[in-house]
Amino acid sequence: MSREEQLLQRALELSALLEQHRRWLHRHPELSFREYQTSAYIRQCLSQLAIPHRTVAGTGVVGTLGHGEPCVVLRADIDALPITEQTGLPFASEHPGCMHACGHDMHTAMLLGATLLLHEHAAALPGTVLLLFQPGEEQLPGGASLVLASDVLEHPRPSAVFGQHVFPNLPVGAIALAAGPIFAATDELSWHFRAAGGHAAQPHLTGDPIVAAASFICHAQTLISRNRDPLMPAVLSITAIQGGSAPNVIPSEVQLQGTLRSFDQPWRQQALQWLEQATAHVAAAHGVQATLEIRSGYPPLVNDARATELVRQVATAMVGADRVVPFQPVLWAEDFAYYSQRFPAAFWLLGVCPPEQQTMPGLHHPSFCPDERALPIGAALLAAVAWRALEIFR
Ligand code: NI
Repeated sequence: MSREEQLLQRALELSALLEQHRRWLHRHPELSFREYQTSAYIRQCLSQLAIPHRTVAGTGVVGTLGHGEPCVVLRADIDALPITEQTGLPFASEHPGCMHACGHDMHTAMLLGATLLLHEHAAALPGTVLLLFQPGEEQLPGGASLVLASDVLEHPRPSAVFGQHVFPNLPVGAIALAAGPIFAATDELSWHFRAAGGHAAQPHLTGDPIVAAASFICHAQTLISRNRDPLMPAVLSITAIQGGSAPNVIPSEVQLQGTLRSFDQPWRQQALQWLEQATAHVAAAHGVQATLEIRSGYPPLVNDARATELVRQVATAMVGADRVVPFQPVLWAEDFAYYSQRFPAAFWLLGVCPPEQQTMPGLHHPSFCPDERALPIGAALLAAVAWRALEIFR
């Protein structure tokens, strides 16, 4: 039996414990950067195994297994979302308006599982595994950027960083991955169009922020579609319009919000400049004032070819080649991207759809309910990937 199969077998024996971890975390979700109970729970688990650990990025925890170089990092995000749970599960959220709807409870439980598995072989590990329980994935600036601003990934410098995300589009047991860019760079945008406002019957006495905003939306869509290589993925979505309150009043303000996403950093910067210019020009053409506020989000998540190949081999040895499938990149955002900018990194997607079902509610849905049979697979995969990486990334 291969090491991968042995780790999976052991993880399956630990299924009940993994479920217990996951259900406790699911019951006690906490919003980004406020993961106090979660963090305490993780620290308690590490303390029980006498694994040295420290706090990072406020509510994050990083544990250390093994010693010396090389060093590899296993990362799980630990935060939940401001969503009211509608799963009806017996272990549903006890925190009103807060839910683990992105599976970070699963991620955390699987990293605790990998911790147990690796701890049982700590003496055999040819280096150091950092167990990184990261806060604040769901909220800018992203916990990953705070982890990187600290010194926890400096001494020793990691040779590779690995992470995973539950994936409702694949059945339990399947793993999807791809080298290169898989998730997008993202920016949050908000516009204010302002004018004096006035009587709807006298438009000639004021600028009209509604017409200006409408014109801008159409112009911005053309701007993106006409200035982008058609073979390069990018999208601008305007997702909110607010302004006006009566049929006979031209309002003094209209607000827009939206998001810009792309895989290409230079193009991203160029597109933001175009949007700033277009905002000023369209406003001037309509005789209104306009401002654009840009909140820079995460960079693109780019999987390292060598690290991805390692994961593919380990996953194949564990679950079989037919269940390791190529991942089709999407313009989602994920702050693991920051690690991928700094270190060789690989991030994969772990199937959590019950095999008996064709589909399930998606990520961030109030009925999102991943199949817990994925827990031992994800835990074993993390452990096996780290172990193999210590042997290869020297
Ligand atoms: Ni997530």
